[in-house]
Amino acid sequence: MRKVLYSLMAMMFLASCTTQTEKTGRGNNDYDVVEKVIMSRRSVRQYTDRPINRDTLNEILKCGINAPNGQNRQAYEIRVIDNPKLLAEITEAVVKDNPENAPKNGAENIFVGATCVIFIANDTTYDVSQVDCGLLGENIVLAAWAKGIGSCCMAQPVRLMKGSRSCAPYIEKLGLSKDYNLLYCIAMGYPDEKPEAKPRKTDKIRFVE
Ligand SMILES: Cc1cc2nc3c(=O)[nH]c(=O)nc-3n(C[C@H](O)[C@H](O)[C@H](O)COP(=O)(O)O)c2cc1C
Repeated sequence: MRKVLYSLMAMMFLASCTTQTEKTGRGNNDYDVVEKVIMSRRSVRQYTDRPINRDTLNEILKCGINAPNGQNRQAYEIRVIDNPKLLAEITEAVVKDNPENAPKNGAENIFVGATCVIFIANDTTYDVSQVDCGLLGENIVLAAWAKGIGSCCMAQPVRLMKGSRSCAPYIEKLGLSKDYNLLYCIAMGYPDEKPEAKPRKTDKIRFVE
């Protein structure tokens, strides 16, 4: 009888733990893990040739689209190029029109030599769509970092692409919907450097009484 009672109590305890985790979606050490991922992340600008497999990419992108977004309109479109040859072709087109924009430091493309680039476009008909795109990107960057994958949010390659006539077919190839504007991209790959943290201005934060 006592055995049955103990078993019942154990089952009730386990059930309450499960319910708690399901309700909050949180375990006990979430803050430590999240803080570690956020505070250790750095923009990576040197990558190895190792490709990121698509299952991994899809997991990261799923985290991306779980970001908060205005009215759940998800006012972004995401295009992924994980073919280094295509990234090299885009680079060639940019450099053809503007040779001064050739990749620096021996990088193989204008995306700091990354093997994979995620292009993010915003819905220009929605006033806060750029916020959606930024939050989406941050989720992507952090999820990738937690998997040992480095990244760098980049506006410059998108500026270069838009400023190059020869690149127009590649922007077309992204197949963005009407009213969507290519906003920025995220270069991504396995890191081949360990960048130092850049200082932040803590006086940007002020409590208002
Ligand atoms: C919207 C945006 C655009 C950026 N554009 C570029 C870029 O074109 N080239 C580049 O090397 N880094 C770019 N960065 C990366 C920043 O330089 C980097 O995040 C910043 O220096 C802080 O360094 P950390 O990410 O290592 O903390 C961009 C970042 C953001 C958020």
